Amino acid sequence: MDAVMPQECETAQAALGPRCDQTPQWAQLRAYFERQGRQLDLREAFASDPQRFAHFSQQAPEVFADLSKNLWDRGSERLLLDMARACGLQRHRDALLTGQAVNITEQRAALHTLLRRPRGLALPGDEPWVAGALKEVHQTLDAMLAFAESVRADAQITDIVNIGIGGSDLGPQMAVVALEPYRVLGKRFHFVSNIDGHELDRVLRNVRPEHTLFIVASKTFTTLETMTNARSARAWFDAQGGQDVARHFVALTSNVAAARDWGVTTTFGFADWVGGRYSLWSSIGLSIAIAIGDAGFRALLAGAHAMDEYFRTAPLEHNLPVRLALLDVWYRNFHGFGSRCIAPYHANLRRLPAHLQQLEMESNGKRVDHHGRALPYATSPALWGEPGSNGQHAFFQLLHQGPDVLPLEFVAVREGMHALAGHHQMLLANALAQARALMQGRHSDCGHRHFPGNRPSTFLLLDALTPASLGALVALQEHRVFCSGSLWGINSFDQWGVELGKQMALDLLPRLQSGDVAGLDASTAGLLQRMR
Ligand code: F6P
Repeated sequence: MDAVMPQECETAQAALGPRCDQTPQWAQLRAYFERQGRQLDLREAFASDPQRFAHFSQQAPEVFADLSKNLWDRGSERLLLDMARACGLQRHRDALLTGQAVNITEQRAALHTLLRRPRGLALPGDEPWVAGALKEVHQTLDAMLAFAESVRADAQITDIVNIGIGGSDLGPQMAVVALEPYRVLGKRFHFVSNIDGHELDRVLRNVRPEHTLFIVASKTFTTLETMTNARSARAWFDAQGGQDVARHFVALTSNVAAARDWGVTTTFGFADWVGGRYSLWSSIGLSIAIAIGDAGFRALLAGAHAMDEYFRTAPLEHNLPVRLALLDVWYRNFHGFGSRCIAPYHANLRRLPAHLQQLEMESNGKRVDHHGRALPYATSPALWGEPGSNGQHAFFQLLHQGPDVLPLEFVAVREGMHALAGHHQMLLANALAQARALMQGRHSDCGHRHFPGNRPSTFLLLDALTPASLGALVALQEHRVFCSGSLWGINSFDQWGVELGKQMALDLLPRLQSGDVAGLDASTAGLLQRMR
């Protein structure tokens, strides 16, 4: 989307303020980094500043964060804060939360926070359409939750199959897995996303039509993978003698007309200002609602709303999403770190890295600013990760002793939800130990045994993994991504980059059958011929 922006986009962007590199602080940060940022030693920083932990830790709703083991100091943070103010971050935040068209290339709001706003709550500066939209949000929410309750009470339905991909899969799946102890008994949850038929086939071999609810989740109701899987599920349902499609198929979409045309009568909609990766709070969250019920889903929304309110009102210097974003910019553009590892020290958070990958990399994996101009700096890091302690026995070697510095983000939970003696304390001890070992290192005269230390990490700590704390944690990450995107001057709410591959797949599909390789590059042609 290097195209010229319409006039309105130019105007809207001008109102938002300069990009980070257009502020006076950018050059000051560069100088600061060269003078004392690059060589910051965490061990010395802690020794010289007894208040370092207190200063760099932050309590936000449901989430405590320790940012002190990161390669920054009060001076760099102060400059970063000044830069954020100069960029107009507060104005940009207010524009997001009040329904302005911050998704500038698609000319619409990105108002996922409205999905978790309490009924009737108005914010100062709300766009005129927001009050009406909030009413609709609650009407749909009430209807969706009533439907979820009816499914929960229906003992005949034992299997819920969510068919969707990207944001129509990752968020719901992550939450259903995370909230396993809160789940209704007697139901199994399956998530089918891949166009690879092995995935759907594995599920279909284990369910019966009369006991299954298929949820077709797709904002656009056109996505190739989802529509192919939905069609195959429907064909299987008919072939197995399934009766009553209306009872066994439900659609979640902002394209309700297409869902009806496809033959689904039970539909729950949502507005086009809900981005796919921000949609788990909408009717796309039906599988979550069936899993944890009306009260659980409302608690998830309430946790997210508490984070929204905190984000909206806390001063920038005590605002956790903002502080995380400042660190992200510092790491990406000054230290030059290209990735962030997410290490959830809780097995139920095992799908969190995948959800955060889409959230951050689809939002901020951009190389042009709002005007379509190439950026002179890097944007989203690559996110990756696996739960601890497993990761310790796989890739942590590289984190401790590899030549690159790879910042790590721990997500730990103080209370476990099982009765197995000793496990949870050992898990927490391991998380603490890894963060400490990365920072402290250990000297050895034998090169192989030497740990250089000074390896940065952030530590996020929840008291318990509940619907409310999960809501707050995910909202925190959404706002952090928004803030870094805002500082980088990019539109975090479009995803033009996914289009090209989709179009090429449509071109290549008939060629796989016909063998026509005309106009293809030699590599694609060679591979296609081998596949035939
Ligand atoms: O191709 C990317 C994408 O558009 C994501 O942004 C989205 O979450 C996913 O595909 C699924 O889209 P839909 O919900 O419209 O099927």
